[in-house]
Amino acid sequence: MEITNVNEYEAIAKEKLPKMVFDYYASGAEDQWTLQENRNAFSRILFRPRILIDVSKIDMTTTVLGFKLSMPIMVAPTAMQKMAHPEGEYATARAASAAGTIMTLSSWATSSVEEVASTGPGIRFFQLYVYKDRNVVAQLVRRAERAGFKAIALTVDTPRLGRRESDIKNRFTLPPNLTLKNFEVLDLGKMDEANDSGLASYVAGQIDRTLSWKDVQWLQTITKLPILVKGVLTAEDGEKTLKSTTQNSHSSSSLASWVIALLVITLHFVTNSPKSVCYFFLSAARMAVQAGAAGIIVSNHGARQLDYVPATIIALEEVVKAAQGKIPVFLDGGVRRGTDVFKAIALGASGIFIGRPVVFSLAAEGEAGVRKVLQMMREEFELTMALSGCTSLKEITRNHIITDWDAPQARLLPKL
Ligand code: FNR
Repeated sequence: MEITNVNEYEAIAKEKLPKMVFDYYASGAEDQWTLQENRNAFSRILFRPRILIDVSKIDMTTTVLGFKLSMPIMVAPTAMQKMAHPEGEYATARAASAAGTIMTLSSWATSSVEEVASTGPGIRFFQLYVYKDRNVVAQLVRRAERAGFKAIALTVDTPRLGRRESDIKNRFTLPPNLTLKNFEVLDLGKMDEANDSGLASYVAGQIDRTLSWKDVQWLQTITKLPILVKGVLTAEDGEKTLKSTTQNSHSSSSLASWVIALLVITLHFVTNSPKSVCYFFLSAARMAVQAGAAGIIVSNHGARQLDYVPATIIALEEVVKAAQGKIPVFLDGGVRRGTDVFKAIALGASGIFIGRPVVFSLAAEGEAGVRKVLQMMREEFELTMALSGCTSLKEITRNHIITDWDAPQARLLPKL
């Protein structure tokens, strides 16, 4: 049967995969209220399309952290992709690269940063879990940098693993033929069987529960890569993320900028070269960008951590306001349609990430499946833009949608 939308891959994956693996990919935490809400909330946002606009050319391109993408649809980090298909993360990396978009590799991938880099060119981010042993973290970040990864997505919503009941029932553990490849050389690549979820026990043993805002700054001291804070759901934390940026840019980086400025201006007078002035501005700009958290990912971890948090599409707007346009805000969670992508952008997101559709399509058809998912999302998004009267991302505005928090009942009533 022909696949006509991204959702259809879930049923195929369910048929193909062992129950333990499918349940691990599909499930959310506890009552799975947030899991459903991540999808349902999109259906409570309606369009206010504009007509009689020339939509013969639609430009979906965008820039994320300075990298040009063919569309604002990116791949979220999902762990252990070789459970879905033998090619696992390799297939995902190739598919994302072919689609002209970003793949985020999970810390808990079944392929290492070096292996994924060897699949060929592509813009890739590395998702980081902070281990208790900071040497492990520092080594891994260095390896990701060396392997050409362009940013770190620091996951901040997992001091402990959410209670995923099917993983407990299934005694979930990584199949014995696979390892968490990034940690193999550090002897942390295996997951022991446990009386409940093997992953939950692994997290309890290895992941640092003390992680706090000061560690975001610590991370900035060990890497030059831009850092995206993944797992923000409130304006309060959006503001803190922003402060982690500005505080830092007023301290070490701006001092460094001034030192460089003095050096370069001296050079300018000694050599009388206008080029050196340009270098000054260039290096200062680069440092400002590198100064702190470079962006926020509004995420509830695909509803796998704290149940009864709002859908990410509901939380998005308050975080966007808190970020004040100073750093980009991205979203993941329940995005399955081009219409969902449009709604997120209308609410201020600079782009979205998809998680489960990647592992389900990988299970069904390997690399071809992931390519198809990205292609279907692209085509649906393009059509949504055309039918809403938007020819580029910047033309998508808040006024192109109406939500049920705009005014009580406003969504279904005429706007008079
Ligand atoms: C995830 N997610 C995740 N996040 C992360 O930071 N590191 C990880 O290793 C993983 N692993 C992972 C595995 C699986 C099977 C799922 C479904 C999710 C969360 C992921 O990055 C993203 O936030 C959600 O998947 C987005 O929601 P959707 O698109 O799956 O609804």
